[in-house]
Amino acid sequence: MDKHLQSFIAGLPKCELHLHLEGSFEPEHMFEMARRNQVEIPYSSIEELKKAYQFANLQEFLDIYYAGAQVLLHEADFEELTWRYMQRVHAENTRHVEVFFDPQTHTDRGVAFATAIGGILKGLERARTELGMSASLIMSFLRHLSEKAAFATLEKARPWRAHILGVGLDSSELGNPPSKFERVFAKAREEGYLLMAHAGEEGPADYIREALDLLKVHRIDHGNRCMDDDLLVAELSRKQVPLTLCPLSNEKLQVCPDLSKHPLKNMLKVNLLVSIHSDDPAYFGGYMNANYLAMAEALDLNKDEIIDLAKNAFRSSFLEEAQKEEYLAEVEAYARRFSEKGMSV
Ligand code: HPA
Ligand code: ZN
Repeated sequence: MDKHLQSFIAGLPKCELHLHLEGSFEPEHMFEMARRNQVEIPYSSIEELKKAYQFANLQEFLDIYYAGAQVLLHEADFEELTWRYMQRVHAENTRHVEVFFDPQTHTDRGVAFATAIGGILKGLERARTELGMSASLIMSFLRHLSEKAAFATLEKARPWRAHILGVGLDSSELGNPPSKFERVFAKAREEGYLLMAHAGEEGPADYIREALDLLKVHRIDHGNRCMDDDLLVAELSRKQVPLTLCPLSNEKLQVCPDLSKHPLKNMLKVNLLVSIHSDDPAYFGGYMNANYLAMAEALDLNKDEIIDLAKNAFRSSFLEEAQKEEYLAEVEAYARRFSEKGMSV
């Protein structure tokens, strides 16, 4: 492993836009909380649980991910999960995060919306005050559930509207196209939420089109499959629609089992606004640094390309322009300092 490259990436100011909080639940933490809350998990040890993290596709992962989330019961559990995550990515010099949570994963098993979001917001607030990070929260609808259930979730979120930046769409993609949620997204848009959707991870390029045309999203999560459709690529590039890529997730879920064939480099060549994120780091083998490093090594990225990717993430965020500029200036200052030290990657 190239030490220069590793330390360059470690110090780079980074921005996380595609992270499911429930996917940051480390096995050790899950076991500790299961014991405390007296919840049974169907694995006898941490090692056995980790061995189960071998996925043939998205659904195999989701089954284990939803099972793991059942350990979260109390507001303090959600706060602890969030706070541990924020500390961890702060140590990687992640400066800004926009994180997802899946309210239905909790409300459907009798945990109140207020319990989940109350704890998460406390964890995010603690990171703002104690770590100087900026952070916002996005709620995702589970697309394998009904439109009606998504509407009910939007209703439950009403008292928390001021604390939720936007809505997303995740879970089992194939067979659950964005069109299923057109009316829910129209309502969320009326209520002032920012909009995004997972599309083109396992699903076809057409799902990305639907997310743009029917849901009117501002950002696409994943979006890998756009490369199958030249006209779509041209549109995404012209409109500079952000695509939040997750390399280690793509590798582990067999979306792209060989990272040397990952579309990221070609996406940069055709001027797509792409950036690197970690999706479900506790399940896929790495947080931000590991995802940057995996791409840099697999695609032989140079320092300028890595810097562009970090800048793209801040550009793709929902921060105010002035705050975006501040973070972009931080990235530039870092790149200059690194070259002055005579270090090249
Ligand atoms: N895809 C879809 N839904 C998800 C994912 C993902 O990678 N992670 C958590 N929910
Ligand atoms: Zn995701």
